[in-house]
Amino acid sequence: MSPQQESFSSDDRVASGLSTEWSRAMDLRVPVVNAPMGGVAGGRLAAAVTSAGGLGMIGMGSAGSAAALREELRHTAALDGRFGIGLVEWVVAADPELLDVAIAAAPALVSVSFGTDPSWIARVRESGIRTATQVYNATEARMAEDAGIDVLVARGSEGGGHGAVEMATLPLLDAVLDAVSTPVLAAGGIGSPASFAAVLAAGAGGVWLGTRLAACAESSLSEAGRRAMIGADGTDTVVTTAFDVAMRLPWPTRFPARVLRNEFATKWAGREDTLRTDERARAELAAAVAADDPRTAPIDAGQGVGAITAVVPAAQVIDELCSGAAELLARP
Ligand SMILES: Cc1cc2nc3c(=O)[nH]c(=O)nc-3n(C[C@H](O)[C@H](O)[C@H](O)COP(=O)(O)O)c2cc1C
Repeated sequence: MSPQQESFSSDDRVASGLSTEWSRAMDLRVPVVNAPMGGVAGGRLAAAVTSAGGLGMIGMGSAGSAAALREELRHTAALDGRFGIGLVEWVVAADPELLDVAIAAAPALVSVSFGTDPSWIARVRESGIRTATQVYNATEARMAEDAGIDVLVARGSEGGGHGAVEMATLPLLDAVLDAVSTPVLAAGGIGSPASFAAVLAAGAGGVWLGTRLAACAESSLSEAGRRAMIGADGTDTVVTTAFDVAMRLPWPTRFPARVLRNEFATKWAGREDTLRTDERARAELAAAVAADDPRTAPIDAGQGVGAITAVVPAAQVIDELCSGAAELLARP
């Protein structure tokens, strides 16, 4: 057997040890989805994750638009629909064409998160596209199931970016798995083979990885953002609405963001009422965002950020996670 054949067959053994009912139904080699991360998970990252055997997702966050989505879709054109698109409900409400463009792209999965109106689910499903949404407790999971959702994402408070701070990933996963019969992906703080293995052992249909893939070579994160992530560990994040208030983004207050702690967050977290009208602080933040200065500008990251030690291709991260998790799960 040539070395190439040998590594291929060992890859296959890893993949079959991790596959779940959901990953088989989605025809994925490994049960890994990259979280749709606005400004970070573009078409290049989605294509890399799909090529590595998972499901790549294009993320359209608070700055998302139909035009920006069309641009990112150029990178996934050759994937024959083997990718997903993730949208934010209030952004779609402001630019309804976003959902039209997403449906027209005929991806394998569309997610819409951070909302209360499930009417998009029926519309997307009627187009033959599977649907996903992030939930934070069992009641919400049941509501999304009743609305016809195809897969739920149980997103724990360890996670990076915006999300409700209600339950940690493992207790949330337990509660959601108990409450519904729909497949459930686990999200929030998953960045190591051990945490990946733990959620699969608990019954997750797969993982929805954000932070761990955010600094990959194919992501759209800035150089300074990558360096900040590499330099951070799990104690270096904070949950705050300060950046959204300063940037006047209409995020529902239920969804603050977990970001790397920096000078701006340290100064303003908890003082949003003062910040709201502090034009100087708002201008400083805008300048730092334009200059890509992570001492002031926000960098979304979850508590698994310590697992990021270098900028490497997404395929390498996925291979390391999968082979490590398969080894842990195969232990006698
Ligand atoms: C940089 C970054 C940007 C994000 N942007 C979005 C987004 O645009 N839409 C979305 O649904 N979730 C977004 N999220 C949240 C993810 O969907 C997911 O809940 C989270 O990344 C999971 O936790 P983890 O980061 O610890 O893996 C973002 C997360 C990060 C880290």
